[in-house]
Amino acid sequence: MIIKYNDETIYSLIKIIIMIATKKAPVKATTNSPETDSRLQEFFHGELKDIYWAEKHLVKTLPKMAKAATSQELRDAFNQHLEVTQGHVGRLEEVFNILGYKPQAKKCEAMEGITKEGEEIIADTEKGTATRDVGLIFAGQKVEHYEIATYGSLTQLAKTLGHDEVANILHSTLQEEKEADEGLSGIAENTVNEKAEQE
Ligand SMILES: [Fe+2]
Ligand SMILES: [Fe+2]
Repeated sequence: MIIKYNDETIYSLIKIIIMIATKKAPVKATTNSPETDSRLQEFFHGELKDIYWAEKHLVKTLPKMAKAATSQELRDAFNQHLEVTQGHVGRLEEVFNILGYKPQAKKCEAMEGITKEGEEIIADTEKGTATRDVGLIFAGQKVEHYEIATYGSLTQLAKTLGHDEVANILHSTLQEEKEADEGLSGIAENTVNEKAEQE
């Protein structure tokens, strides 16, 4: 069936599309409290608690991954990212402060699942092998990608809510998660995968 539109209908449709496309972000929120927060601000607050739990959990998990690694290069990468991750915890505390919230963690089921999978990989691969490192890189990259997705969305949402300083802080962490991910890719491509193939 072919539907025919007259000029006026098309003109109205274009106007609606332009209105949606140019819709401005809400104005800056100034104070935050559970009583006065908008639904979106409340959602943002909840997501901050979620990633705060995840980062703190990673501070405990990364040393186990470093210990399980076969190559010194991968062990160093995990240990280096542990230091960076401690910085991410501190940044989130700064974000809570700026927004007038108490730093609070809410269990992140996704990060718990990803790190559990990492433990399974350690259990299923033999100590001292390059295959173990391949598995650890898999687990590490899944962690980093979860963080990249979260910090990307959080940065955008902070901007929408008018929290520009917070957006900048979250963006700094986002960049460091991307660097960690690229670092792991480099180790896989340059050494570990090839060694594992020969095992
Ligand atoms: Fe992080
Ligand atoms: Fe990370």
